[in-house]
Amino acid sequence: MKGVVLAGGLGSRLYPLTKITNKHLLPVFNKPMIYYPIQCLVNAGITDILIVTGGNSAGHFLQLLRNGSDFGLARLSYAYQEGEGGIADALKLAEAFAEGDSICVVLGDNIIEGNIKKAADDFRAQVAGGGGAKIMLKEVHDPERFGVATVQDGKVVEIVEKPKQPKSNLAVIGIYMYDPSVFEICRDLKPSSRGELEITDVNNEYLRRGQLTCEVLQGWWTDAGTFESLYRSAALVRESGANRMDV
Ligand code: G1P
Repeated sequence: MKGVVLAGGLGSRLYPLTKITNKHLLPVFNKPMIYYPIQCLVNAGITDILIVTGGNSAGHFLQLLRNGSDFGLARLSYAYQEGEGGIADALKLAEAFAEGDSICVVLGDNIIEGNIKKAADDFRAQVAGGGGAKIMLKEVHDPERFGVATVQDGKVVEIVEKPKQPKSNLAVIGIYMYDPSVFEICRDLKPSSRGELEITDVNNEYLRRGQLTCEVLQGWWTDAGTFESLYRSAALVRESGANRMDV
């Protein structure tokens, strides 16, 4: 399985911090934000990674990460996203990189305390047994900010993107595992009301096909795309010593 870190977007919820740099280069305690999703993939045994980014400061990723050897990567690739098409639009750029392999996609502003090694191993077995997708869930107190899953008997029955009245407190976190059919699914998507190709629509298509599995993440999870969550992520990393890296 290969890894994809999505690190594009305008980061407008963090203006003016992101007016002159990319959100994923901002500090989270003592490391640039992008280090955490990369380390998350490495901890799951994934060392062939693509960074999808865009905008003015795209070149800074190359300067910062170079060839990825600081993380022990086998290969670090880069793709450039034109414009603002949403997460599933950015994902399309990973098709040539994936070369028919399955992928683990991590949103560049998602930070976790623990690791996804077991989920990645389970997904490798799922692919060997037929394929599909796996999403990771986490209980939160503000589900209306996220994709929200309704789960019955351990199975996802519905995912709604940022519902005004969430039916559960299980957020779909920004770590997704897909077999190669994800690219065909992305091609058929229609833009949502906010004009983006939504990752929730991709997951709902796997659900419709009866090929979506889920796992609840152990340990804390946070995004870092708002002032509050950026602040909280730094505090969580500092207090827990999570994601200690030699990089
Ligand atoms: C995105 C997804 C959402 C997911 C979240 C996780 O939202 O659309 O389903 O729960 O990431 O961080 P965004 O924060 O990009 O609006």
